Amino acid sequence: MSRIVLGVSGGVAAYKAALLLRAFTEAGHDVRVVPTPGALHFVGAATFEALSGNPVTTDVWSDVPEVAHVRIGQTADLVVVAPATADLLARAAAGRADDLLTATLLTAHCPVVFVPAMHTEMWLHPATQDNVATLRRRGAVVLPPAVGRLTGPDSGPGRLPEPADIAALAAVVLDGGAGALPQDLTGRRVVISAGGTREPLDPVRYLGNRSSGKQGWALARVAAARGADVVLVAANVDAPAPFGVRVVPVGTAEELRTAMHAEAAGADVVVMSAAVADFRPAGVAATKLKKGSAGEPTAVELVRNPDVLAELVAGRPPGRLVVGFAAETGDDDGDVLTHARAKLARKGCDLLVVNDVSAGQVFGRSENAVVVLGADGSATEVPRGSKDAVAAGIWTAVGARLDPAGGR
Ligand code: CTP
Repeated sequence: MSRIVLGVSGGVAAYKAALLLRAFTEAGHDVRVVPTPGALHFVGAATFEALSGNPVTTDVWSDVPEVAHVRIGQTADLVVVAPATADLLARAAAGRADDLLTATLLTAHCPVVFVPAMHTEMWLHPATQDNVATLRRRGAVVLPPAVGRLTGPDSGPGRLPEPADIAALAAVVLDGGAGALPQDLTGRRVVISAGGTREPLDPVRYLGNRSSGKQGWALARVAAARGADVVLVAANVDAPAPFGVRVVPVGTAEELRTAMHAEAAGADVVVMSAAVADFRPAGVAATKLKKGSAGEPTAVELVRNPDVLAELVAGRPPGRLVVGFAAETGDDDGDVLTHARAKLARKGCDLLVVNDVSAGQVFGRSENAVVVLGADGSATEVPRGSKDAVAAGIWTAVGARLDPAGGR
């Protein structure tokens, strides 16, 4: 159990803070909500008190003997401000202490995560961007807002990310500190494939696999949080797009291949985390295969699919990193890492993220553990943790190899 301060400032997205609060308490954390006076125009203190089980105050004149404005910040393990309005970011950047939340921000020794939400114009204004840069320079994590429908008919960057995404990233910071989400991918273009391809047999049946796409989703979410411009080529994943990420849906290996080649143009990093079918049925029946019919199949002939990872390696320009994934089991011919090293050499990629699937431990699970092998002979162990924590470890290994002259 950790002590989390949930700061809420006065924007319409404040209602989503109640869901975030719920996610934190369900994860077992003790949450103290510190709204600004403006936030209470949108959500009543009673809602935050009932959901957190803790008192809610907005100013420094309540609980004076407790010296709340100092104690709340000093004793927190993590401060998350969601939503962070343009005004809150400005006051935090200026170091003001005109309400309990900003006073708390000045006394907090722990990691601080700001989750901005505001109208697009306010987000893009140089004053706001300068304030964000100042807060990041001081070590705070500032997540990019999601793109989409805002209050009213307009849309653009400014939406609060989904509470579940914020909670997942907050957990990464809680475990690894603010250094788990540095802004090291700012200006980098990242293309990630995720999910599992489906190879049709007839209009209703397909050959598929058990990949859930969860690790690819976490990679996209964490890359966006670390500043990257992210495209997610998603094979049959039924999940909402992570914030700040463009999703390109695909079905078959062939569609994934076409999308990856198109999206890889201009990319600094390409990550193949999708489970691509190695084979597809040689022919696809135009109508449903029926039992007892003249066309009832007795066997399925398969043909090889192209190796997309190998193609991306062969076609890459200098400076682009290509990262592969491998699900391996140990056997009489060698252990997991021996097989993985051979695969890294065979595929020719820069990094290979290795999952040990011997005990059926990965598919659909919320936790993972990997080893990141480098073509330079390195091996980085990323310990068991949430898929977001593992994604953070993978990006740290990738970030260390990015061409410093690259990016925009
Ligand atoms: N991959 C790909 N295209 C394929 C198959 C796999 O791009 N047709 C990519 C996967 O996305 C992953 C990596 O290759 O990044 C590892 O795939 P895997 O199937 O484990 O490799 P194989 O060479 O097929 O190894 P094995 O002989 O163990 O099946």
